Amino acid sequence: MRKNIVAGNWKLNKTLQEGVALAKELKTALTGKNVNCDVIICSPFIHLTAIHEIVEGSEMKVGAQNCADKDSGAYTGEVSAAMVASTGAQYVILGHSERRAYYGETNAILKEKVKRALENHLIPIFCIGEVLEERETGKQNKVVKTQINESLFDLSAEDFGKIVLAYEPVWAIGTGKTATSAQAQEMHAFIRQIVADKYGTKTANDTSILYGGSANAGNAKELFSNPDVDGGLIGGASLKVDTFLPIIEAF
Ligand code: 13P
Repeated sequence: MRKNIVAGNWKLNKTLQEGVALAKELKTALTGKNVNCDVIICSPFIHLTAIHEIVEGSEMKVGAQNCADKDSGAYTGEVSAAMVASTGAQYVILGHSERRAYYGETNAILKEKVKRALENHLIPIFCIGEVLEERETGKQNKVVKTQINESLFDLSAEDFGKIVLAYEPVWAIGTGKTATSAQAQEMHAFIRQIVADKYGTKTANDTSILYGGSANAGNAKELFSNPDVDGGLIGGASLKVDTFLPIIEAF
């Protein structure tokens, strides 16, 4: 079943103490509220266990922002999907444009990461999206289709059904320049159509497709009102309860 989801991607922010404090504050703010979406905190690796302990039993869930493409071995500095799962985290962001751009993550590497995540019962929040030049030259659909095709379309329908997609136009991330509601809906509908062509309408209709890129309290309601926008992956605005809570409440 398609779920509404608001996920916070903390990126490289918050010490352990700051992260614990924010998770506690958010949990308190959500207590007794009738929230119409799943709320996920995607923190740095070192926070996962502590935050999982804080949110356990509440509506909130925890995710990592990456995992290794290997299971184990001599890969200094890496964190495997099994390690992430052992903290209690249930989600993992994969394919974020910052990982693609700054850490050389290709569609082929991401395909392996998705497999490792699924083997360890983590739900990938798989990010796709075009850079500005691709948008300006009308290549956005082709780019997004290739990203999905090369990293995800060898999965069985059952495994694909476990994935959450996040459309994040790179030109909208951290720039304050949000995609218009119409641009988001147009791309989300296109993505759902590609999924339908590959796996059938039921799988496509059951897939949650989140929007990410300068989403905030002011634009979330309009973005989420689109039939194919099932929530948001929120960067900057997820770092404070004051700015994150109104986005959760936009549903
Ligand atoms: P901002 O919300 O800060 O633009 O970041 C979006 C994002 O990259 C979430 O993964």
